[in-house]
Amino acid sequence: MKGFGPHMGHTGGFGKSDSPVIKALMARRSVRSYLDVPVEWDKIMTCIESGMMAPNAGNLQIWRFVVVRNLDKKKEIADACLQQYWMEQAPVHIVIFAKLEREEHYYGIRGTRLYSIQDCAMAAMNIMTAANALELGTCFVSAFDEEAISRIFRLPDGVRPQGVITMGYTDEKPTAPIRYRVESLVGVENYGMAMNEGQSGRIADKAAAVSTYRYAERFPKYLQDAMSDISKVTAKKRRKVLGKLLGKFKKKGEEKAEE
Ligand SMILES: Cc1cc2nc3c(=O)[nH]c(=O)nc-3n(C[C@H](O)[C@H](O)[C@H](O)COP(=O)(O)O)c2cc1C
Repeated sequence: MKGFGPHMGHTGGFGKSDSPVIKALMARRSVRSYLDVPVEWDKIMTCIESGMMAPNAGNLQIWRFVVVRNLDKKKEIADACLQQYWMEQAPVHIVIFAKLEREEHYYGIRGTRLYSIQDCAMAAMNIMTAANALELGTCFVSAFDEEAISRIFRLPDGVRPQGVITMGYTDEKPTAPIRYRVESLVGVENYGMAMNEGQSGRIADKAAAVSTYRYAERFPKYLQDAMSDISKVTAKKRRKVLGKLLGKFKKKGEEKAEE
């Protein structure tokens, strides 16, 4: 195989490690079902403080966080998140905002359109990793009506919502959604230059056989998971996403057949 290609399957053999950090990163999954157990305030703050230690442009720390535990407010948020009502039963929502003024002052459009989003995404990932370490489940939710969220929080000008993290104890153990194989996404020295077998950690024939098997085995499961995700959003969005998915997998099937 030359260059990048959308080959699905196992991410590769490099993810195995005894490091607790690597293990936690590999094991984290989006959780959408929570136990009715309150989350300790200390834990919420530890997660947010971990978020605040994330790298951020110029250390301007333009992120702002709101902790929501009030049921009515969580309902409003779930509604603003395109009717994702599963969010209501998460004991905690952490809503992340970007306060753009200083980012604009120092970095102009690049600050407001790029750095602010990257800053908040870095904080969000730290929050979710910390939550994972504290045995809390999370899901990052970013499909929302920005005006609706702005209304709920009476946001002043120059403050933009960036995402909602649902958080809570869970007994859900989501299976890992399928990821592209590492050699499909990683180039060497140049964009689109494929890795060789040594670099991708695969032995050609065996790997091809195993990945074909995995593809066949996991594809229906992947579609099933995708459908269940999709059923959580509005009917309109559902039709749109489904159309895209089917197109994508039709193409993938044709590519597979050609291989
Ligand atoms: C930018 C972004 C937006 C997302 N928005 C939503 C969302 O609105 N609703 C949802 O249920 N999950 C959302 N997710 C979670 C993804 O669906 C999830 O990360 C992806 O399916 C991979 O699954 P995993 O997190 O278990 O690895 C979002 C994730 C990201 C990074």
